[in-house]
Amino acid sequence: MTSTPDRTAQDPWPPLSAGLSNTHPALRYCWHPVARSADVADRPLRVLLLGEPWVLARLGPTGEVRAFADRCPHRQAPLSIGSVVMRPAWAATAPPEPALRCAYHGWCFGVDGRCVDIPALGVSTPAPGAPALAPGAPASAAASTAHIPPRATLRAAHRVAERHGMVFVCPTAPPPGLDDEAAATFDALQALPDIDEAGDPSFMPGDLPVMRANASAGLLADNFLDMAHFPFVHAATFGAEDPVVPAMHVERDATDPSRRWSFTATSEHPFSNREDPGVAQGIRALVQRRRVTYRVHAPFHLVLRLDFLDSGGSNVIGFFLQPETEDRCRIFSTIWRDDLGHDPGRMASAVDFEVKVIEEDLGIQEAYDVRALPLDPTVEVHTRADRTTLELRRMLSDVVAAVHAATVPARQHPGGAT
Ligand code: FES
Ligand SMILES: [Fe+2]
Repeated sequence: MTSTPDRTAQDPWPPLSAGLSNTHPALRYCWHPVARSADVADRPLRVLLLGEPWVLARLGPTGEVRAFADRCPHRQAPLSIGSVVMRPAWAATAPPEPALRCAYHGWCFGVDGRCVDIPALGVSTPAPGAPALAPGAPASAAASTAHIPPRATLRAAHRVAERHGMVFVCPTAPPPGLDDEAAATFDALQALPDIDEAGDPSFMPGDLPVMRANASAGLLADNFLDMAHFPFVHAATFGAEDPVVPAMHVERDATDPSRRWSFTATSEHPFSNREDPGVAQGIRALVQRRRVTYRVHAPFHLVLRLDFLDSGGSNVIGFFLQPETEDRCRIFSTIWRDDLGHDPGRMASAVDFEVKVIEEDLGIQEAYDVRALPLDPTVEVHTRADRTTLELRRMLSDVVAAVHAATVPARQHPGGAT
């Protein structure tokens, strides 16, 4: 890990010693889940991300989800209390398409965030690329473009994507003029990972209800990767008889700009498979082999896959965190199972079980006074059993250093984040 000295007084970023809070500026350049796809329907939806309100709406001819700062440029009313309307026809030949209408004075905004209608001025304007005005259209329709102030444009998120039933937002674009290596670094950071099992028909998906926690997203990610707490926090659910954490093989190539922002941690170890009916039937021994694989992408996109190597079957848990405010975040979790016979009842039980497990974790996480993941490795004490969670700190510390170096002018950090 690169060491990052604490920053100077002129540097607007928080010092390294403050850790990774839910609103840390480096997180603006990363992907975050903000909603279930199904929750973005025919009305605008307000979400909070990194302390800032955003409005989500399905706009444009295909109803793609767009994200804008939740503030109308006219008189700053929240757009999320507005509506999605079919765009007022400006010409007979223009196809209708959904637009976001402000509740206050009715301004309408199109898929690219540009204002397309100011009712108080009388007429609307063509969408970009719209066909030419039909012969005989009122001259005022063409003339009206001039009346839309250029600044009547919403601030759009850099990227929005729907993946695995969730809407992800990456709020901020990389700064212009990056050298090749820095550009590759941002490309990799802003590549939203796929989950292979989600597209595999042998796996059945089960969404947990979205949960809200008064907690740090960084510490929740840390907790998801931590195995040493199982016997103490999860005694009432899955527990673990053996408190010893198996040796984890952690793989991350911190020197390759395209691979710096992900890592895997794996282990194959014996465990007591009490849920295997084959044990009671005498077909298999109680102690069986299990493979544990964590897949992590910065900042808080985490997947755990458990493969039961003797009894068969795989259990995949996705854990995705939305840092809402300094003190609060939401947890999106989906499980994918290939061992439930596609039975909805068994999946519902599995989902309930995972909710209980997360509630047990929140008993610890919501008790923290300081809601930030430490990035300075000397702040905490690490052991061999913390290998995976130490890598999380290293990777996120590298994210902070890389984004800082690319976005904060050098004169503001003469000591430099290296
Ligand atoms: S505040 Fe939105 S239209 Fe006036
Ligand atoms: Fe846990």
